[in-house]
Amino acid sequence: MDRIRIRGGAPLHGTIPIGGAKNAALPLMAAALLTAAPLRIANVPDLADIGTMVELLRSLGVAADIGPATGAAAGRVVTLDGGRVSDTTADYELVRKMRASVLVLGPLVARFGEARVSLPGGCAIGTRPVDLHLAGLRRLGAEIEIVDGYVLARAPTGLTGATVVFPQVSVGATENLMMAAALAAGETVLENAALEPEIVDLARCLATMGAEIDGAGTARIRIRGRQKLAGGEHRVIPDRIEAATYVMAGAITGGAIRLPGADPALMEAVGDVMARTGTEVAADADAVTVRRDGPLTAVNVATAPYPGFPTDAQAQLMAVAAIAAGTSVLTETIFENRFMHVPELARMGADISVRGNHATVRGVAALRGAPVMATDLRASVSLVLAGLVAEGETTVNRVYHLDRGYAGLVEKLAACGAEIERIRG
Ligand code: EPZ
Repeated sequence: MDRIRIRGGAPLHGTIPIGGAKNAALPLMAAALLTAAPLRIANVPDLADIGTMVELLRSLGVAADIGPATGAAAGRVVTLDGGRVSDTTADYELVRKMRASVLVLGPLVARFGEARVSLPGGCAIGTRPVDLHLAGLRRLGAEIEIVDGYVLARAPTGLTGATVVFPQVSVGATENLMMAAALAAGETVLENAALEPEIVDLARCLATMGAEIDGAGTARIRIRGRQKLAGGEHRVIPDRIEAATYVMAGAITGGAIRLPGADPALMEAVGDVMARTGTEVAADADAVTVRRDGPLTAVNVATAPYPGFPTDAQAQLMAVAAIAAGTSVLTETIFENRFMHVPELARMGADISVRGNHATVRGVAALRGAPVMATDLRASVSLVLAGLVAEGETTVNRVYHLDRGYAGLVEKLAACGAEIERIRG
């Protein structure tokens, strides 16, 4: 299994192009199931999770054409043609690999009147149920039962628009319901919808495909369903979490990095928090820039749904806090088990104690390199960040987690002066 070896200490200087957002691309790809016409999606990042979604869509009978990598951020054009969907079962083997597979449920039941999708089960960051997805689809008239670990959803005469009030904000449930509602008869109103930029991106794509949809980006989304949707062309928004991760890389090493392609409007909470640590995050014409010259200062931060500080950047911030002067308290409010990086950072010399969903991080003068590993994407990348500043050598194992969400991570960091390499085998 591949590993990443890092020799810490070099401040990063240079340019890192930001790719398309994984968490926008995955629902956009699922949206291809809503139409018999081709959907052409540009700026799709070159990631293992995208490959898993392609595999899943192909298993359902969607024809997928993946264009060559283009440009510095290596985005691809993916053309998906749902004209010959032959199966409505999303198999356990694929759903198990990637929870976002559950996003095919809404489109399948809306267009074909039936779907059989494996229940994803828990994962490293929490139990992550899909009850909100199922309750929402039931409101639209789907009959749903759980049989042998699979969700069986049926709507033989189609779905019907309704008001769905989410008791809790869920990005995935909002997306599944938006897609289902786009083919439901009449109007659907989603209340307490997620506000994430990835939701707005999906709404834009659905509108291109002919759906009538407004309010995306607010807590109330209104969708007027169509009998049929068309294909279309869409470009994925920049990955705000990839960008936030490289902002943290600049902060932790005390460097200056330009992030062309990043959208500053999507990163305000991250910019505000980093300013409090003594890191300058600014925007110029076509890039976000990050620079830190002075000392790092501790911060107290609680994760929150957008526009709050993202849970997907909490682990990376913790690596920064580990060497900031003073005591930081990081509170995780979205997932109940998203502190798996804590024991590994501690092995590198970080002083962190966890009580419930609060991590108290007492900044230390230096981290020390160590062999480490983590069980999810963002925890893994936080260990890479810690390795960039640790004394001596850090080896990060289980690199496949990083391949799920960071295209060209090693190359991008090395181009800015990091001593980092991937060891194959
Ligand atoms: C999306 O996951 C992202 N994934 C996650 O990114 C991200 O951490 C998360 O949103 C929060 O921002 C994709 O977009 C593919 P949720 P999602 O439904 O949609 C609970 C990464 O590192 N919940 O908003 O699965 C759930 O357990 C990943 O890139 C229910 O209780 O997240 C969690 O506590 C990891 N019942 C909270 O809601 C449900 O039916 C928010 O989850 C659904 C969710």
